[in-house]
Amino acid sequence: MINKDLSVEFLGVHFENPFCLSSSPVGNCYDMCKKAYDTGWGGVVFKTIGPKHFLIDEVSPRFDALTKEGTPFVGFKNMEQIAEHPLEENLADVKRLKEEYPNKVLIASIMGTNEEDWTELARLVEEAGADMIEMNLSCPQMTSHAMGSDVGSNPDLCRKYCAAVKRGSKLPMIAKMTPNIMDMVPVAKACLEGGADGISCINTIKSVVNVDLDRKIGLPIINGKSSISGYSGKAVKPVALRFIQQLRMGEGLHDLAISGIGGIETWEDAAEFILLGATTLQVTTAIMQYGYRVVEDMKNGLMHYMEEQGVDRLQDLVGLANANIIPAEELDRDYIVYPEINYDVCINCGRCYVSCYDGAHQAMEWDKENRKVRCNKEKCVGCHLCALVCPVKAISKGEVVLKPGRPGNPADKKV
Ligand SMILES: Cc1cc2nc3c(=O)[nH]c(=O)nc-3n(C[C@H](O)[C@H](O)[C@H](O)COP(=O)(O)O)c2cc1C
Repeated sequence: MINKDLSVEFLGVHFENPFCLSSSPVGNCYDMCKKAYDTGWGGVVFKTIGPKHFLIDEVSPRFDALTKEGTPFVGFKNMEQIAEHPLEENLADVKRLKEEYPNKVLIASIMGTNEEDWTELARLVEEAGADMIEMNLSCPQMTSHAMGSDVGSNPDLCRKYCAAVKRGSKLPMIAKMTPNIMDMVPVAKACLEGGADGISCINTIKSVVNVDLDRKIGLPIINGKSSISGYSGKAVKPVALRFIQQLRMGEGLHDLAISGIGGIETWEDAAEFILLGATTLQVTTAIMQYGYRVVEDMKNGLMHYMEEQGVDRLQDLVGLANANIIPAEELDRDYIVYPEINYDVCINCGRCYVSCYDGAHQAMEWDKENRKVRCNKEKCVGCHLCALVCPVKAISKGEVVLKPGRPGNPADKKV
Protein backbone atom coordinates (compact mmCIF):
# COMPACT_ATOMS: atom_id res chain seq x y z
CA MET A 1 0.00 0.00 0.00
CA ILE A 2 1.55 3.28 -1.13
CA ASN A 3 1.26 6.19 1.26
CA LYS A 4 2.31 9.53 -0.18
CA ASP A 5 1.78 12.97 1.26
CA LEU A 6 -1.02 14.56 -0.74
CA SER A 7 -1.16 17.71 1.38
CA VAL A 8 -0.87 21.12 -0.26
CA GLU A 9 -0.58 24.70 0.95
CA PHE A 10 -2.91 26.99 -0.93
CA LEU A 11 -2.96 30.70 -0.10
CA GLY A 12 -1.66 29.97 3.38
CA VAL A 13 -4.28 27.32 4.09
CA HIS A 14 -3.25 23.70 4.68
CA PHE A 15 -5.25 21.06 2.78
CA GLU A 16 -4.66 17.43 3.80
CA ASN A 17 -5.30 16.59 0.15
CA PRO A 18 -6.19 18.81 -2.82
CA PHE A 19 -9.66 17.34 -3.38
CA CYS A 20 -12.64 19.58 -2.58
CA LEU A 21 -16.32 19.53 -3.31
CA SER A 22 -17.05 22.40 -5.66
CA SER A 23 -19.84 24.75 -4.73
CA SER A 24 -23.07 23.04 -5.78
CA PRO A 25 -25.72 20.69 -4.38
CA VAL A 26 -22.98 18.23 -3.38
CA GLY A 27 -22.04 20.58 -0.52
CA ASN A 28 -25.41 22.06 0.25
CA CYS A 29 -25.79 21.44 3.98
CA TYR A 30 -24.11 20.19 7.14
CA ASP A 31 -24.94 16.49 6.62
CA MET A 32 -23.57 16.39 3.09
CA CYS A 33 -20.33 18.18 3.95
CA LYS A 34 -19.88 15.97 7.02
CA LYS A 35 -20.23 12.85 4.90
CA ALA A 36 -17.77 14.25 2.35
CA TYR A 37 -15.19 15.03 5.05
CA ASP A 38 -15.66 11.56 6.54
CA THR A 39 -15.14 10.02 3.08
CA GLY A 40 -11.77 11.75 2.83
CA TRP A 41 -12.25 14.99 0.92
CA GLY A 42 -9.69 17.59 1.95
CA GLY A 43 -12.08 20.50 1.67
CA VAL A 44 -15.55 21.68 0.85
CA VAL A 45 -16.66 24.74 -1.09
CA PHE A 46 -20.07 25.24 0.44
CA LYS A 47 -23.02 25.86 -1.91
CA THR A 48 -23.04 29.57 -2.88
CA ILE A 49 -24.56 31.70 -0.15
CA GLY A 50 -26.51 34.73 -1.35
CA PRO A 51 -27.90 37.80 0.38
CA LYS A 52 -31.06 37.57 2.43
CA HIS A 53 -33.05 39.78 0.06
CA PHE A 54 -32.39 37.65 -3.03
CA LEU A 55 -34.97 34.89 -2.98
CA ILE A 56 -34.19 31.68 -4.77
CA ASP A 57 -37.02 30.05 -6.68
CA GLU A 58 -35.83 27.01 -8.62
CA VAL A 59 -37.41 25.28 -11.65
CA SER A 60 -38.44 21.65 -11.86
CA PRO A 61 -36.98 19.57 -13.43
CA ARG A 62 -33.61 21.27 -13.56
CA PHE A 63 -31.09 18.84 -15.05
CA ASP A 64 -30.30 17.20 -18.37
CA ALA A 65 -27.41 15.08 -19.65
CA LEU A 66 -25.64 14.59 -22.95
CA THR A 67 -25.20 10.87 -23.60
CA LYS A 68 -23.17 8.92 -26.13
CA GLU A 69 -23.44 5.20 -26.83
CA GLY A 70 -23.12 3.55 -23.41
CA THR A 71 -22.03 6.70 -21.54
CA PRO A 72 -24.87 8.26 -19.54
CA PHE A 73 -23.12 11.54 -18.63
CA VAL A 74 -20.76 12.81 -21.30
CA GLY A 75 -21.77 16.21 -20.06
CA PHE A 76 -24.35 17.49 -17.61
CA LYS A 77 -26.65 20.51 -17.76
CA ASN A 78 -28.12 22.24 -14.74
CA MET A 79 -30.46 25.16 -14.32
CA GLU A 80 -29.86 25.65 -10.64
CA GLN A 81 -29.01 28.96 -9.01
CA ILE A 82 -27.48 29.45 -5.56
CA ALA A 83 -28.30 28.07 -2.08
CA GLU A 84 -32.00 27.70 -1.38
CA HIS A 85 -31.55 27.48 2.38
CA PRO A 86 -31.94 30.65 4.44
CA LEU A 87 -28.77 32.64 5.08
CA GLU A 88 -28.82 31.92 8.84
CA GLU A 89 -29.08 28.18 8.23
CA ASN A 90 -26.10 28.23 5.83
CA LEU A 91 -24.01 30.23 8.29
CA ALA A 92 -24.95 27.88 11.14
CA ASP A 93 -23.89 24.90 8.99
CA VAL A 94 -20.55 26.52 8.20
CA LYS A 95 -19.97 27.24 11.88
CA ARG A 96 -20.84 23.71 13.01
CA LEU A 97 -18.73 22.10 10.31
CA LYS A 98 -15.69 24.17 11.26
CA GLU A 99 -16.17 23.41 14.94
CA GLU A 100 -16.40 19.67 14.30
CA TYR A 101 -13.77 19.49 11.55
CA PRO A 102 -11.12 22.06 12.44
CA ASN A 103 -8.51 20.32 10.28
CA LYS A 104 -10.63 20.15 7.15
CA VAL A 105 -10.91 23.18 4.93
CA LEU A 106 -14.17 25.02 4.52
CA ILE A 107 -14.42 27.54 1.72
CA ALA A 108 -17.51 29.71 1.72
CA SER A 109 -18.82 30.53 -1.74
CA ILE A 110 -20.71 33.81 -1.79
CA MET A 111 -22.56 35.95 -4.31
CA GLY A 112 -23.99 39.44 -3.84
CA THR A 113 -26.01 41.81 -5.99
CA ASN A 114 -24.03 44.95 -5.10
CA GLU A 115 -20.94 46.03 -3.14
CA GLU A 116 -22.76 46.16 0.18
CA ASP A 117 -23.99 42.58 -0.24
CA TRP A 118 -20.50 41.30 -1.08
CA THR A 119 -18.92 43.07 1.89
CA GLU A 120 -21.58 41.87 4.31
CA LEU A 121 -21.53 38.26 3.09
CA ALA A 122 -17.73 38.19 3.38
CA ARG A 123 -17.98 39.49 6.93
CA LEU A 124 -20.62 36.93 7.87
CA VAL A 125 -18.83 33.88 6.52
CA GLU A 126 -15.58 34.89 8.20
CA GLU A 127 -17.49 35.32 11.46
CA ALA A 128 -19.00 31.83 10.95
CA GLY A 129 -15.48 30.38 10.80
CA ALA A 130 -14.82 29.76 7.09
CA ASP A 131 -11.15 29.33 6.15
CA MET A 132 -11.40 30.97 2.78
CA ILE A 133 -13.87 32.74 0.51
CA GLU A 134 -14.73 31.91 -3.07
CA MET A 135 -16.54 34.62 -5.02
CA ASN A 136 -19.07 33.15 -7.40
CA LEU A 137 -18.71 35.54 -10.33
CA SER A 138 -19.77 32.96 -12.80
CA CYS A 139 -23.14 31.17 -12.50
CA PRO A 140 -24.60 31.44 -16.04
CA GLN A 141 -28.28 31.06 -15.11
CA MET A 142 -28.95 33.67 -12.48
CA THR A 143 -32.31 35.41 -12.84
CA SER A 144 -30.62 38.73 -12.01
CA HIS A 145 -28.12 40.34 -14.39
CA ALA A 146 -26.48 41.90 -11.34
CA MET A 147 -25.22 38.41 -10.48
CA GLY A 148 -23.30 35.50 -11.99
CA SER A 149 -21.53 35.28 -15.34
CA ASP A 150 -22.76 38.70 -16.48
CA VAL A 151 -20.68 40.14 -13.67
CA GLY A 152 -17.81 37.69 -14.22
CA SER A 153 -17.34 38.77 -17.83
CA ASN A 154 -17.01 42.43 -16.84
CA PRO A 155 -13.51 43.21 -15.48
CA ASP A 156 -14.55 46.52 -13.88
CA LEU A 157 -17.37 44.95 -11.91
CA CYS A 158 -15.11 42.06 -10.88
CA ARG A 159 -12.45 44.46 -9.59
CA LYS A 160 -15.05 46.45 -7.68
CA TYR A 161 -16.73 43.42 -6.08
CA CYS A 162 -13.42 41.80 -5.15
CA ALA A 163 -12.46 44.99 -3.35
CA ALA A 164 -15.84 44.95 -1.61
CA VAL A 165 -15.20 41.42 -0.35
CA LYS A 166 -11.77 42.43 0.90
CA ARG A 167 -13.36 45.26 2.88
CA GLY A 168 -15.56 42.70 4.65
CA SER A 169 -12.99 40.01 5.42
CA LYS A 170 -9.31 39.29 5.84
CA LEU A 171 -9.69 35.68 4.71
CA PRO A 172 -7.82 34.46 1.63
CA MET A 173 -10.15 34.87 -1.32
CA ILE A 174 -10.43 33.18 -4.71
CA ALA A 175 -12.56 34.50 -7.56
CA LYS A 176 -14.44 31.86 -9.55
CA MET A 177 -14.23 32.47 -13.29
CA THR A 178 -16.80 32.04 -16.01
CA PRO A 179 -15.67 30.17 -19.14
CA ASN A 180 -18.29 32.07 -21.15
CA ILE A 181 -15.66 34.48 -22.37
CA MET A 182 -12.88 34.43 -24.99
CA ASP A 183 -10.00 35.55 -22.81
CA MET A 184 -10.00 35.01 -19.05
CA VAL A 185 -6.73 36.85 -18.38
CA PRO A 186 -8.15 40.43 -18.25
CA VAL A 187 -10.91 39.31 -15.86
CA ALA A 188 -8.51 37.39 -13.64
CA LYS A 189 -6.13 40.37 -13.53
CA ALA A 190 -9.00 42.70 -12.61
CA CYS A 191 -9.92 40.33 -9.77
CA LEU A 192 -6.32 40.31 -8.51
CA GLU A 193 -6.20 44.12 -8.71
CA GLY A 194 -9.38 44.19 -6.65
CA GLY A 195 -7.74 42.03 -3.99
CA ALA A 196 -8.38 38.40 -4.99
CA ASP A 197 -5.56 36.13 -3.85
CA GLY A 198 -6.22 33.37 -6.38
CA ILE A 199 -8.57 32.09 -9.05
CA SER A 200 -10.89 29.12 -9.32
CA CYS A 201 -11.61 27.97 -12.82
CA ILE A 202 -14.12 27.05 -14.30
CA ASN A 203 -17.81 27.44 -13.57
CA THR A 204 -20.27 25.94 -16.06
CA ILE A 205 -20.49 26.64 -19.80
CA LYS A 206 -23.64 28.16 -21.28
CA SER A 207 -25.44 25.43 -23.20
CA VAL A 208 -28.47 23.92 -24.87
CA VAL A 209 -27.74 20.22 -24.47
CA ASN A 210 -30.71 18.47 -26.11
CA VAL A 211 -33.93 19.37 -27.92
CA ASP A 212 -37.09 17.26 -27.68
CA LEU A 213 -37.76 16.55 -31.34
CA ASP A 214 -41.53 16.00 -31.09
CA ARG A 215 -42.25 18.91 -28.79
CA LYS A 216 -39.49 21.11 -30.26
CA ILE A 217 -38.37 22.35 -26.86
CA GLY A 218 -34.90 22.33 -25.29
CA LEU A 219 -34.42 20.02 -22.31
CA PRO A 220 -35.25 20.02 -19.49
CA ILE A 221 -38.77 21.21 -20.22
CA ILE A 222 -40.31 23.62 -17.76
CA ASN A 223 -43.93 24.19 -18.60
CA GLY A 224 -43.25 23.98 -22.33
CA LYS A 225 -40.04 26.07 -22.36
CA SER A 226 -36.36 25.77 -21.54
CA SER A 227 -33.33 28.07 -21.10
CA ILE A 228 -29.66 28.30 -21.84
CA SER A 229 -27.81 27.15 -18.73
CA GLY A 230 -24.61 25.64 -17.35
CA TYR A 231 -22.83 22.59 -18.75
CA SER A 232 -20.36 20.59 -16.67
CA GLY A 233 -18.80 17.13 -16.34
CA LYS A 234 -16.23 15.22 -18.36
CA ALA A 235 -17.04 17.05 -21.60
CA VAL A 236 -15.89 20.40 -20.20
CA LYS A 237 -12.47 19.22 -18.98
CA PRO A 238 -10.66 20.33 -22.16
CA VAL A 239 -12.16 23.81 -21.87
CA ALA A 240 -11.17 24.09 -18.21
CA LEU A 241 -7.62 22.93 -18.93
CA ARG A 242 -7.17 25.45 -21.74
CA PHE A 243 -8.29 28.33 -19.53
CA ILE A 244 -6.01 27.23 -16.69
CA GLN A 245 -3.09 26.92 -19.06
CA GLN A 246 -3.74 30.36 -20.55
CA LEU A 247 -4.09 31.90 -17.11
CA ARG A 248 -0.75 30.55 -15.94
CA MET A 249 0.92 31.72 -19.15
CA GLY A 250 -0.58 35.22 -18.78
CA GLU A 251 1.93 38.01 -18.18
CA GLY A 252 2.78 38.16 -14.48
CA LEU A 253 0.54 35.17 -13.71
CA HIS A 254 3.10 32.33 -13.76
CA ASP A 255 2.67 31.66 -10.04
CA LEU A 256 -1.06 32.35 -9.94
CA ALA A 257 -2.78 30.24 -7.27
CA ILE A 258 -5.45 28.23 -9.05
CA SER A 259 -8.16 25.90 -7.88
CA GLY A 260 -9.00 23.71 -10.89
CA ILE A 261 -12.57 22.71 -11.70
CA GLY A 262 -14.39 21.11 -14.60
CA GLY A 263 -14.90 17.45 -15.43
CA ILE A 264 -12.53 15.98 -12.84
CA GLU A 265 -13.58 12.36 -12.44
CA THR A 266 -10.42 10.27 -12.18
CA TRP A 267 -6.90 10.59 -10.76
CA GLU A 268 -5.64 11.12 -14.29
CA ASP A 269 -7.93 14.14 -14.67
CA ALA A 270 -6.68 15.41 -11.32
CA ALA A 271 -3.04 14.99 -12.34
CA GLU A 272 -3.66 16.85 -15.60
CA PHE A 273 -5.12 19.85 -13.77
CA ILE A 274 -2.16 19.87 -11.38
CA LEU A 275 0.38 19.64 -14.19
CA LEU A 276 -1.22 22.66 -15.86
CA GLY A 277 -1.11 24.76 -12.71
CA ALA A 278 -3.94 23.90 -10.31
CA THR A 279 -2.93 23.42 -6.67
CA THR A 280 -6.35 22.41 -5.38
CA LEU A 281 -9.11 20.62 -7.27
CA GLN A 282 -12.88 20.83 -7.09
CA VAL A 283 -15.53 18.34 -8.19
CA THR A 284 -19.30 18.29 -8.64
CA THR A 285 -20.65 16.29 -11.58
CA ALA A 286 -18.63 13.14 -10.86
CA ILE A 287 -19.99 13.19 -7.31
CA MET A 288 -23.55 13.69 -8.54
CA GLN A 289 -23.10 10.61 -10.70
CA TYR A 290 -21.01 8.33 -8.51
CA GLY A 291 -21.07 9.73 -4.97
CA TYR A 292 -18.40 11.06 -2.60
CA ARG A 293 -16.44 7.82 -2.75
CA VAL A 294 -14.81 8.85 -6.06
CA VAL A 295 -12.25 10.61 -3.93
CA GLU A 296 -10.82 7.31 -2.70
CA ASP A 297 -9.75 6.25 -6.20
CA MET A 298 -8.52 9.73 -7.03
CA LYS A 299 -6.32 9.91 -3.93
CA ASN A 300 -5.00 6.41 -4.42
CA GLY A 301 -4.25 6.93 -8.09
CA LEU A 302 -2.49 10.22 -7.43
CA MET A 303 -0.29 8.57 -4.78
CA HIS A 304 0.69 5.84 -7.23
CA TYR A 305 1.44 8.45 -9.87
CA MET A 306 3.68 10.35 -7.42
CA GLU A 307 5.50 7.13 -6.57
CA GLU A 308 5.99 6.36 -10.24
CA GLN A 309 7.26 9.88 -10.92
CA GLY A 310 9.56 9.82 -7.89
CA VAL A 311 7.82 12.85 -6.38
CA ASP A 312 7.40 13.27 -2.63
CA ARG A 313 5.46 16.53 -2.54
CA LEU A 314 2.34 16.83 -4.68
CA GLN A 315 3.00 20.55 -4.95
CA ASP A 316 6.20 19.84 -6.92
CA LEU A 317 4.05 18.72 -9.85
CA VAL A 318 2.09 21.98 -10.10
CA GLY A 319 2.40 23.59 -13.52
CA LEU A 320 5.09 21.25 -14.91
CA ALA A 321 3.29 20.77 -18.23
CA ASN A 322 2.80 24.46 -18.98
CA ALA A 323 6.15 24.94 -20.66
CA ASN A 324 5.26 22.18 -23.12
CA ILE A 325 2.19 23.94 -24.47
CA ILE A 326 3.37 26.43 -27.06
CA PRO A 327 1.73 28.49 -29.83
CA ALA A 328 0.72 26.51 -32.94
CA GLU A 329 3.15 28.51 -35.09
CA GLU A 330 6.09 27.28 -33.01
CA LEU A 331 5.36 23.55 -33.39
CA ASP A 332 7.78 21.35 -35.33
CA ARG A 333 6.18 20.66 -38.72
CA ASP A 334 9.23 18.99 -40.30
CA TYR A 335 8.30 15.33 -39.94
CA ILE A 336 5.62 12.65 -40.22
CA VAL A 337 5.24 9.81 -37.77
CA TYR A 338 3.54 6.83 -39.39
CA PRO A 339 1.16 4.53 -37.56
CA GLU A 340 2.38 1.05 -36.71
CA ILE A 341 -0.15 -1.77 -36.50
CA ASN A 342 0.44 -4.53 -33.99
CA TYR A 343 -1.13 -7.52 -35.74
CA ASP A 344 -0.99 -9.60 -32.56
CA VAL A 345 -3.45 -7.17 -30.98
CA CYS A 346 -5.48 -6.14 -34.05
CA ILE A 347 -8.91 -7.80 -34.23
CA ASN A 348 -9.40 -6.93 -37.91
CA CYS A 349 -12.55 -4.98 -37.19
CA GLY A 350 -11.91 -2.46 -39.96
CA ARG A 351 -12.72 0.63 -37.90
CA CYS A 352 -9.40 2.28 -38.82
CA TYR A 353 -10.03 1.51 -42.47
CA VAL A 354 -13.49 3.13 -42.43
CA SER A 355 -12.34 6.21 -40.50
CA CYS A 356 -9.25 6.68 -42.64
CA TYR A 357 -11.23 6.33 -45.85
CA ASP A 358 -14.23 8.47 -44.91
CA GLY A 359 -12.57 10.91 -42.56
CA ALA A 360 -8.91 11.16 -43.51
CA HIS A 361 -6.65 10.23 -46.45
CA GLN A 362 -7.61 6.70 -47.66
CA ALA A 363 -4.25 5.36 -46.48
CA MET A 364 -5.53 2.30 -44.64
CA GLU A 365 -6.08 -0.42 -47.18
CA TRP A 366 -8.41 -3.31 -46.52
CA ASP A 367 -7.48 -6.77 -47.71
CA LYS A 368 -10.93 -8.31 -48.07
CA GLU A 369 -9.76 -11.86 -48.40
CA ASN A 370 -7.65 -11.89 -45.24
CA ARG A 371 -9.73 -9.24 -43.41
CA LYS A 372 -6.54 -7.31 -42.66
CA VAL A 373 -5.54 -3.65 -42.85
CA ARG A 374 -2.24 -2.23 -43.93
CA CYS A 375 -1.02 1.35 -44.04
CA ASN A 376 -0.05 2.74 -47.43
CA LYS A 377 2.67 5.26 -46.58
CA GLU A 378 2.35 6.88 -50.00
CA LYS A 379 -1.00 8.23 -48.87
CA CYS A 380 -0.63 8.40 -45.09
CA VAL A 381 -0.15 11.90 -43.64
CA GLY A 382 0.46 10.62 -40.10
CA CYS A 383 -2.69 12.16 -38.60
CA HIS A 384 -3.28 9.12 -36.32
CA LEU A 385 -7.06 9.11 -36.59
CA CYS A 386 -6.66 5.34 -37.02
CA ALA A 387 -5.02 4.99 -33.60
CA LEU A 388 -7.75 7.03 -31.95
CA VAL A 389 -10.61 4.96 -33.35
CA CYS A 390 -8.96 1.57 -32.77
CA PRO A 391 -11.02 -0.17 -30.07
CA VAL A 392 -8.13 -2.37 -28.91
CA LYS A 393 -5.22 0.08 -29.08
CA ALA A 394 -3.43 -1.96 -31.73
CA ILE A 395 -2.02 1.12 -33.45
CA SER A 396 0.88 3.12 -32.08
CA LYS A 397 3.48 5.58 -33.32
CA GLY A 398 5.96 3.95 -35.69
CA GLU A 399 8.54 5.16 -38.19
CA VAL A 400 9.47 8.86 -38.14
CA VAL A 401 10.30 10.39 -41.52
CA LEU A 402 11.40 13.93 -42.34
CA LYS A 403 9.35 15.79 -44.93
CA PRO A 404 11.34 16.37 -48.17
CA GLY A 405 14.03 19.01 -47.78
CA ARG A 406 13.57 19.42 -44.01
CA PRO A 407 16.61 19.48 -41.73
CA GLY A 408 17.34 17.31 -38.71
CA ASN A 409 17.53 13.74 -37.63
CA PRO A 410 14.29 11.76 -37.28
CA ALA A 411 15.76 9.91 -34.28
CA ASP A 412 15.89 13.20 -32.36
CA LYS A 413 12.17 13.84 -32.64
CA LYS A 414 10.26 13.36 -29.40
CA VAL A 415 7.16 11.69 -30.75
C1 LIG B 1 -26.27 21.27 -10.17
C2 LIG B 1 -25.14 22.23 -10.10
C3 LIG B 1 -25.21 23.33 -9.26
C4 LIG B 1 -24.15 24.22 -9.18
N1 LIG B 1 -24.22 25.27 -8.30
C5 LIG B 1 -23.17 26.10 -8.18
C6 LIG B 1 -23.16 27.12 -7.20
O1 LIG B 1 -24.09 27.29 -6.43
N2 LIG B 1 -22.07 27.92 -7.12
C7 LIG B 1 -20.97 27.78 -7.95
O2 LIG B 1 -20.00 28.52 -7.83
N3 LIG B 1 -20.96 26.80 -8.87
C8 LIG B 1 -22.01 25.96 -9.01
N4 LIG B 1 -21.96 24.93 -9.89
C9 LIG B 1 -20.75 24.76 -10.73
C10 LIG B 1 -19.77 23.75 -10.13
O3 LIG B 1 -19.30 24.15 -8.88
C11 LIG B 1 -18.57 23.52 -11.07
O4 LIG B 1 -17.90 24.75 -11.26
C12 LIG B 1 -18.96 22.95 -12.42
O5 LIG B 1 -20.04 22.05 -12.29
C13 LIG B 1 -17.81 22.26 -13.11
O6 LIG B 1 -17.31 21.19 -12.35
P1 LIG B 1 -17.74 19.65 -12.61
O7 LIG B 1 -17.51 19.36 -14.04
O8 LIG B 1 -16.91 18.86 -11.65
O9 LIG B 1 -19.19 19.56 -12.26
C14 LIG B 1 -23.01 24.02 -9.98
C15 LIG B 1 -22.94 22.91 -10.82
C16 LIG B 1 -23.98 22.02 -10.88
C17 LIG B 1 -23.86 20.82 -11.78
